Amino acid sequence: MDRLSLLLEEYRKAPEIFQAGRYWKTYEARIIREIEKSDINQLRSGKYPIFGTFGFSESVYHYHPQVPFYTKLAKQAIRSLFITNKALLPYSLRLSDIREMAYNNCMIQGELANMKPISEIEVSSFGNPADLFEVSGKKYTMQFLNFYIRLCFAQRHLKLKGNETLVELGSGSGFQVEVLKKVFPELTILCFDLPYPLYLCGKYLSESLGENEIIHTNENSFADNLDHLQKGKVNMFGNWKFPLIGNLHFDVFWNAASFGEMEPHIVKNYLSYIGKNCEAIYLLQARHGKESTRKKGVVTPISFNDYAKMLENFTLTKEADAYEAHRKMNQSGSYFQAVWEKNKS
Ligand SMILES: C[S@@+](CC[C@H](N)C(=O)[O-])C[C@H]1O[C@@H](n2cnc3c(N)ncnc32)[C@H](O)[C@@H]1O
Repeated sequence: MDRLSLLLEEYRKAPEIFQAGRYWKTYEARIIREIEKSDINQLRSGKYPIFGTFGFSESVYHYHPQVPFYTKLAKQAIRSLFITNKALLPYSLRLSDIREMAYNNCMIQGELANMKPISEIEVSSFGNPADLFEVSGKKYTMQFLNFYIRLCFAQRHLKLKGNETLVELGSGSGFQVEVLKKVFPELTILCFDLPYPLYLCGKYLSESLGENEIIHTNENSFADNLDHLQKGKVNMFGNWKFPLIGNLHFDVFWNAASFGEMEPHIVKNYLSYIGKNCEAIYLLQARHGKESTRKKGVVTPISFNDYAKMLENFTLTKEADAYEAHRKMNQSGSYFQAVWEKNKS
């Protein structure tokens, strides 16, 4: 908890532009309270649905925490009365069929991307993931497969060799970093995020990749340059440290399902530190922006065209609908994923 307290203290002193926008402010206090009383060994068990807001959601069936108990009971009764063979319609699909199709999809996408196959890596079981299953003696969750699929798309266009430097803003759970490092162990990664996801992300990655692989925020929180960046490691930073990358030459900037939850001026500020120093960008975002009502969500949604305009130093290489391992991404509207490359000067 000391690390989280230190992070929160530094974050609160940071300029307004680095404070969470309206979308995230609504979660802040609840997430911090939940972290304080949570059992880290149950992080992925479904016991803490609020951690699902930044990726720790690995349940097979999602029950909304506010659904009354009797509604859950009624749903369970209906399921056990009418779906006696546990088949999920149509085509008598079972959970095991969906997992097998998702895994096979990963095998094919991995081959197309000329990438280390999914069969050679496995997910960590730290945090007791509710969705853990095995294929050929290796452990997986659907989330792990989903993040592998994102990398397959990116790799077809980025063509990473494995020794590059990648900067991720809004790493959330750290599941993408886990996949990246398991596929490309020598990558140097910089993770930037708000303090409370970053704290849990650090905990998770220490377990899934090994403590030696992670340079924690307390070691980085007083850094005023990146001269001592540890090559081949995962370096964790509070989001207000993002200006440090202005002087770093790096290969890929990665942002998934994160910019869309910020206001346009916040996104513009982050992108102002990325220009001639970055070779390529991967974005996965809600195509028409995230939800926005009078009181909740983002104040001003950002759409694909807005990103395209903001990235004037870059040329779009490829844009497509975003997919998970077993389906198209379609939570409250469609998602795109795209790669941009730095303009040749
Ligand atoms: C929905 S989660 C996505 C996490 C992960 N990239 C994924 O794809 O699962 C959104 C992430 O954006 C981060 N985020 C939201 N607003 C932010 C801000 N103003 N500055 C930095 N990170 C922010 C959140 O902390 C969270 O980690």
